[in-house]
Amino acid sequence: MRALITGISGQDGSYLAELLLTKGYDVHGVVRRASSFNTSRLDPIYQDPHQGGQRLFLHSGDLADAVGLVNLVAAIRPDEVYHLGAQSHVRVSFDQPEYTADITGMGTLRLLEAIRAAGVETRFYQASSSEMFGAAPPPQNELTPFHPRSPYACAKVFAFHLTVNYREAYGLFAANGIMMNHESPRRGEMFVTRKISRAVARIAAGLQDEVYLGNLDARRDWGYTPDYVDAMWRVLQHEEADDFVIATGESHSVREFCEVAFAHADLDWERHVRTDPSYDRPSEVHHLLGNAAKAKRVLGWTPTVRFEELVRIMVDADVEALEAEMSGRTARIER
Ligand code: NAP
Ligand code: GDD
Repeated sequence: MRALITGISGQDGSYLAELLLTKGYDVHGVVRRASSFNTSRLDPIYQDPHQGGQRLFLHSGDLADAVGLVNLVAAIRPDEVYHLGAQSHVRVSFDQPEYTADITGMGTLRLLEAIRAAGVETRFYQASSSEMFGAAPPPQNELTPFHPRSPYACAKVFAFHLTVNYREAYGLFAANGIMMNHESPRRGEMFVTRKISRAVARIAAGLQDEVYLGNLDARRDWGYTPDYVDAMWRVLQHEEADDFVIATGESHSVREFCEVAFAHADLDWERHVRTDPSYDRPSEVHHLLGNAAKAKRVLGWTPTVRFEELVRIMVDADVEALEAEMSGRTARIER
């Protein structure tokens, strides 16, 4: 089997690539050009092309470049396409709405058209988001109407409906995973969980004393990313293309995340957390809490890591990484 992953250098892409390699796939990933290396999350699985036996292949490409996507799909002829690439930060999408619509929304259209233009028979996974539910009251499932609250969420709603439309119009096996927030030691440093776990490590080491956050009352259904990439794979193995909410069914506030994370390092969060309204969003998503009963029933998927364990995994990894950095060693953030 041959898989193509957009966004392979991101949090989810790196875990998914590992999973597919262990399942025997050849894995092809699209990496966009940057002025310095942006593939550090792939270091544990990087293979030197000069050594032979290579099963991980990285290709230069960008979701803004339609012709490049056609050429890539035509050359790779993947059995499965996992479309994870996106401008994925909600707050940033208010500052860069047009760019977000172009990459997160139009990028999906370009990739779907690339599959059609290349005439490749493949299965397509769209990384849809619980942000699409936005202001819809919890719990949210596949029948909950979308009420997006950011340019990012609007772009994801566009991409969700395109995926359904290409399934209906062209018979493409195109499926949506509507995923609640999922986190890990590889989470981007600008998302709230990783911002907190890094701050805990640095405060415990005496390197800083405070961390500034925005809305502490927001509630999220936080899961563990390795569980969620397993769900992506299951979505594409199902006999028919369909859409699935992926969630733990448990929600917690940002404040609770702080409490558990700081307590794990024997710290009192209230002594170190400050708020700064500049991190607030013009329109907030207050409460996401998913019902993944359909994924459990149809795909046999269940989460294995719960909230408190997730927080501990992230804090431990950042403490370990910081200790390694301070002693000149290489960190082992491979969980
Ligand atoms: P992430 O860490 O931000 O990764 C995003 C990936 O997209 C990175 O590889 C990034 O490349 C790539 N990318 C950005 N702009 C691109 C462009 N113009 N052309 C090609 N690639 C581009 O996000 P993630 O957490 O792994 O999430 C993966 C996907 O799932 C995203 O679509 C996200 O919106 C969606 N999602 C995530 C969650 C979650 O909680 N993590 C929940 C629901 C849905 P660089 O490494 O160069 O930046
Ligand atoms: N980033 C950030 N930084 N968020 C903060 C902060 C802060 O300092 N303080 C409070 N928050 C609140 C945000 O207002 C939001 O309500 C919540 O913490 C979570 O924010 P993020 O971690 O940035 O994630 P998100 O929920 O906006 O978006 C993530 O999950 C979506 C799925 O629901 C991203 O991964 C999206 O790409 C994904 O689609």
